[in-house]
Amino acid sequence: MKVLVATEKPFAAAAVEGIKKEIEGAGNELVLLEKYTEKAQLLDAVKDVDAMIIRSDKADAEVLDTAKNLKIIVRAGAGYDNIDLAAATAHNVVAENTPGQNSNAVAELVFGLLVFAVRNFYNGKAGCELKGKKLGILAFGNVGRNVARIAKGFGMNVSAYDAFCPADVIEAAGVHAVKSQDELFQTCDIVSLHIPATPETIKSIDYKTVNQLPKGGILINTARKEVINEPELLKLLAEREDLKFITDIKPDADADFAKFEGRYFSTPKKMGAQTAEANINAGIAAAKQINAFFADGCTKFQVNK
Ligand code: 3PG
Repeated sequence: MKVLVATEKPFAAAAVEGIKKEIEGAGNELVLLEKYTEKAQLLDAVKDVDAMIIRSDKADAEVLDTAKNLKIIVRAGAGYDNIDLAAATAHNVVAENTPGQNSNAVAELVFGLLVFAVRNFYNGKAGCELKGKKLGILAFGNVGRNVARIAKGFGMNVSAYDAFCPADVIEAAGVHAVKSQDELFQTCDIVSLHIPATPETIKSIDYKTVNQLPKGGILINTARKEVINEPELLKLLAEREDLKFITDIKPDADADFAKFEGRYFSTPKKMGAQTAEANINAGIAAAKQINAFFADGCTKFQVNK
């Protein structure tokens, strides 16, 4: 079987080596399309492949229509909003993700960004410490749980809200479970977003929600840009000079946000999962899932059931 790794943002070399070893070790063939810049390159590469591994690369209807032999597509990572699941299902293509494999990397970046933010982007002026601050985690999945673990090391008071995770599971992790998203914003100094982009969450982080943060509040996003209502957040930042917005996903209105100097920071490219460890974990998991699918039809991580 021919397996394509198509990554506009490439994996670490060690991850590619590991994927190659797995795929070829199972008697399959590996082809690589890294750092591509045009969709046409992706369309050309998918024409004759049986399986593919992607990251945030867009597998839309056109890609799935073109990939006539495709049987399985694995998103090496957690969020699969970049795959057109309806098109995959219509073409009888199994879509999978690799949950948990890159979550520690994203969680560590939250703290890299937070220290940078509370120390005023290292501008020389006195900032503040994370110890004793109230951190609110929105969604208690794999990333949220790692964020909670690390936050405790910083001596933060940690709360979480997750519409799909029972309060007793959150409490069992030693985290205070609040009753609503609004309560999280009202009671925490910093809110860290870990929600996926779904019809329910898209643009849900809006003026009213963020305006509930107390004075000096920080909103940090290492999830998806789509969950932010950008025009409303821009309006709020203009009205409240005490708020900061830190993000690992450049907003569409980056130039407008950049006007809030000293209160806004975006990484130039989404860096959350960009570590050798996360690339190796997610990439090799994806390769193993593809091998298992071809060997015995295993679809354990299918997301378009
Ligand atoms: C994920 O959903 O796994 C993360 O957002 C990482 O995405 P990336 O592989 O594009 O860096």
